Amino acid sequence: MGGMNITEALVAEHTVLLQLFDHVESELLGIASLESLQLLARIIERLLHSHGEAEEDLVLCALDHSLEDQGRRERFHQEHQELDERFKQLQTATDLETARRLFYGALQASRKHFRFEEESLFPFASRVLGKDILLELGQFRALAQAEIESDGITR
Ligand SMILES: [Fe+2]
Ligand SMILES: [Fe+2]
Repeated sequence: MGGMNITEALVAEHTVLLQLFDHVESELLGIASLESLQLLARIIERLLHSHGEAEEDLVLCALDHSLEDQGRRERFHQEHQELDERFKQLQTATDLETARRLFYGALQASRKHFRFEEESLFPFASRVLGKDILLELGQFRALAQAEIESDGITR
């Protein structure tokens, strides 16, 4: 069975998410209600969350194989927490301008986080895990996503 390995799959997800961020960002000024803006943010947050869970599984797998690179893993977890926090804050904002500013900030922080992952975290995980495990994890990710798609309709 062919298919993408997990880091290729995650990078492909980044590409899609980045396009979505650009699009959302270009629409942000035109959104006139706090509720609409927060709804849009929740959609993005949900996509990012599912993506982040797959990454956390990947890093967990890599953990057993290497005691080095602790700083890289700490940064990774810290940035995931920070992103969660930014999206949470956005939902508690009580005025449109604040929410919009937080939205721009969250998108910018996400872009920066993606770059760190692509330049530093994924190469590290690839190095310690090896081809076969990366491929297996990629297949799990494809299966999990197919499930999300088939049950997303009813939710
Ligand atoms: Fe991430
Ligand atoms: Fe990512």
